[in-house]
Amino acid sequence: MFYLISIIGSGRVGASIAFLCVANALDDVLLLNRTKDKALGESMDIANAIPPTSKFSIRGTDDYSELSDSDIIVIAASRDNYTKDRTENIQSQVDMIKEIAEKIKQYCPSAIILVISNPPDVLTYFFQKGSGFSRFKVMGIASSLDSSRFRYFISEKLFVPQSSISNALVLGEHGDSMVPIFSNASVNGTNLNSLIDDTVRESMINNIRGYWKQLRNYKSRSQFGIAKNTYDVIHAIINAKELSVPASIVLEGEYGENNVSMGIPVKINQNGVSEIQKIDLDGSEKLMLKESSKKIRDDINSV
Ligand code: 2OP
Repeated sequence: MFYLISIIGSGRVGASIAFLCVANALDDVLLLNRTKDKALGESMDIANAIPPTSKFSIRGTDDYSELSDSDIIVIAASRDNYTKDRTENIQSQVDMIKEIAEKIKQYCPSAIILVISNPPDVLTYFFQKGSGFSRFKVMGIASSLDSSRFRYFISEKLFVPQSSISNALVLGEHGDSMVPIFSNASVNGTNLNSLIDDTVRESMINNIRGYWKQLRNYKSRSQFGIAKNTYDVIHAIINAKELSVPASIVLEGEYGENNVSMGIPVKINQNGVSEIQKIDLDGSEKLMLKESSKKIRDDINSV
């Protein structure tokens, strides 16, 4: 079966995801941008990365009706820039996602949706509510990026390769209240908590939460980490390979939460989210996750 992967927003992140899909001959890609030349330019550039053995291609457009055969839609669009907080332009981003939801409902009601744009938890919530799509087909992809950062810091601090680290998950908001789950993580089978003390734990939490700002001071917005984490999800969907990752979906009682979307561990397959995974959290992690869901809910209620 052939798929069409459509990416709304062809800035750094959208173009990087498209590049990975095309260079790995994953499937056909459509890049959509409200500035048509940007979509055309990026697709022309990325087209030269099509391997000679690939059956697939890439094209650019500004026309939503061209999305109509899409199986997977990545939303990576951003209306404004932000510097201090991912929720800085929440109102215009929510207005944007509502408009996109209407168009996607019209042109591709069966697509699986991956929301990358900030703030992804709030936008996933509004997309799912606005479109009426099954909550298992609308995912915010960002907690896997935060988890990559968690693995990176464990690896650097303990001088171990990332391949020796298991279950280093970051849950909750893709924002300042995100919650690294230490109690479940291990290094070569040894629980992470027994390898570090409270001071290291605190500094890791701060470093993971502050990663994007430090990166931004050096080079503007991040692109490659989120691109690879999104590519992995697309790859799992297209190849019907089950993938365990944290992702943001609208919760209906899971983790004690309702009417909010936040990062939790899920399994993803060709149909979208196939399972919400229940993991044990310690007391302080439960408390931090509660605070994180409250932060997202407050943001949802602020628009
Ligand atoms: C990141 O975490 C800015 O959300 C983006 O890199």
